[in-house]
Amino acid sequence: MDPSTSRPAVVIDNGTGYTKIGFAGNVEPCFILPTVVAANESFVNQPRALTKNSNWLAQHSAGVMADLDFFIGDEALTRSKSSSNYNLTYPIQHGQVDNWDSMERFWQQCIFNYLRCDPEDHYFLLTESPMTAPENREYTGEIMFETFNVPGLYIAVQPVLALAAGYTASKCEMTGVVVDIGDGATHVVPVAEGYVIGSSIKSIPVSGKDVTLFVQQLMKERGEHVPAEDSFEIARKVKEMHCYTCSDIVKEFNKHDKEPGKYIKHWRGTKPKTGAPYSCDVGYERFLGPEVFFSPEIYNSDFTSPLPEVIDKCIQSAPIDTRRALYKNIVLSGGSTMFKDFHRRLQRDLKKIVDDRILASDARLGGNVKAQPVEVNVVSNPIQRCAVWFGGSVLASTPEFFAACHTKAEYEEYGASICRTNPVFKGMY
Ligand SMILES: Nc1ncnc2c1ncn2[C@@H]1O[C@H](COP(=O)(O)OP(=O)(O)OP(=O)(O)O)[C@@H](O)[C@H]1O
Ligand SMILES: [Mg+2]
Repeated sequence: MDPSTSRPAVVIDNGTGYTKIGFAGNVEPCFILPTVVAANESFVNQPRALTKNSNWLAQHSAGVMADLDFFIGDEALTRSKSSSNYNLTYPIQHGQVDNWDSMERFWQQCIFNYLRCDPEDHYFLLTESPMTAPENREYTGEIMFETFNVPGLYIAVQPVLALAAGYTASKCEMTGVVVDIGDGATHVVPVAEGYVIGSSIKSIPVSGKDVTLFVQQLMKERGEHVPAEDSFEIARKVKEMHCYTCSDIVKEFNKHDKEPGKYIKHWRGTKPKTGAPYSCDVGYERFLGPEVFFSPEIYNSDFTSPLPEVIDKCIQSAPIDTRRALYKNIVLSGGSTMFKDFHRRLQRDLKKIVDDRILASDARLGGNVKAQPVEVNVVSNPIQRCAVWFGGSVLASTPEFFAACHTKAEYEEYGASICRTNPVFKGMY
């Protein structure tokens, strides 16, 4: 028996904003770190005042040093602040890898410095956004099998894993709609018995980073004295700590105006340049931030479809015999679904769209035949921030996972194209 199949698989969920890494079978990832790399570029731009012969050697060692002198995650952010030699790169944009060199460096440190494991000893489960091109899976396969020499690899679609997190009931339900709102991408993905219904996937151009930008803009417009160089980070922290979803925006404005003492929060910090303390108020942005998902026109005049409407359209475009099951199991995933009462608002607004359609159809039929009510159920859970990673952890601890992986031997025999498809396996249906 291959000893690497008796060791826990490594599970890595690479997100636009944060990467979650750990071992299969655990309830939580070992690390959640920003998906960012800081590389020391000064080696690459070495001075040229060298003799002809030493020039090649110097450039070669510069390349080697550049390969060694880099940091990832929070360490990368700290390095880039303290030294101008370090250049930051964000390998993933809107859910897709867009800088493979940087991605490889990122994985290298995840494996060797964070998990501290030998990649030759573990099978790997990686995740991808639902709209990923098959070529990207080939690149991932090449890096994993050739650079890291992994014995087995499976690339899973993020929303399928979020469903596999199976927190809907005691039994894991593999039919449902996943609403995954991360930092850089929002996808509404219907899944029937473990298979993604690709033609019905909807993506919207509003995600966690947009909420942060909106909070930052609102605080600036109100004239809060936030140090400019820190304002995005502060907006993100304010968003994560104080934002919530309201049920009615007009009522919420009134509530804030009547009892500001109850609703206005204070942010205290120190200015990075001078170290002087400052404080600012956090007001309407507390509920206006998350409102961008329900009234997107307040943030972006080019995109005006509220999230509940997009979910309804997604389900309506799925095969008719799956629709009831899809409405019944709408699963939230990703950090930007964590706002207080987010699931309640989504449930209420979506239920209204569905009920209004039933009423309209009953009226058309003249009251002779009545349509069956449709159960709408938006599922929320405290672990939804890491639902994708956790689902990966669950699936990668089943024996079927190892059989579904592509192995190093298969890669060597058939080439990287085998990584284009990753079979659905038991546990996913
Ligand atoms: N408690 C919270 N309330 C609101 N937003 C939060 C909370 N915690 C994290 N977030 C936001 O969630 C986002 C990160 O979520 P997540 O880790 O799911 O994204 P990602 O996987 O990096 O991105 P993507 O899936 O889009 O590629 C960030 O925008 C972060 O500010
Ligand atoms: Mg994600």
